[in-house]
Amino acid sequence: MKVLMVCLGNICRSPIAHGIMQSRIDTHNLDWEVDSAGTSSWHIGEQPDHRSIDIAHRNGIDISGQRARQFTASDLEYYDIIYVMDSSNYQNVRLLDRTNSHTHKIKLILNYVYLEENRAVPDPYYDNNFQQVYQMLEQAVDKIIEEYI
Ligand code: 4NP
Repeated sequence: MKVLMVCLGNICRSPIAHGIMQSRIDTHNLDWEVDSAGTSSWHIGEQPDHRSIDIAHRNGIDISGQRARQFTASDLEYYDIIYVMDSSNYQNVRLLDRTNSHTHKIKLILNYVYLEENRAVPDPYYDNNFQQVYQMLEQAVDKIIEEYI
């Protein structure tokens, strides 16, 4: 299975989700592939935010090798599931799905924890809430993994 984590900048939330998912793939020896991307072009080529690197590191996960990239329409073809962090990411990804043929692949990641509530992973870029975001993403990724193993 090929999964993609998507947020706005690809420097705070989706790199953490990407790192947690990669660690679970490694632990369970799954034949899965994970990457992350941002709907904006703002941080292309950059390392994750140092606060994301720090919180992941404190949880035993190294995300310092990741580099931000922008989500493209071809990601809709390539990936089996696209996990988005909030409704604005959802809308931006949907805009690139011109034929609406991939809509079923786009999922709000917290719906795996809070079924059908359409909750957002709050953007920690300004409010600094990286600890809470890490915990939310860990819960969501573990639910996703549980469903498939
Ligand atoms: P992310 O957070 O979408 O979780 O990577 C953000 C990162 C950067 C900005 C906004 C959100 N920004 O405005 O540059």
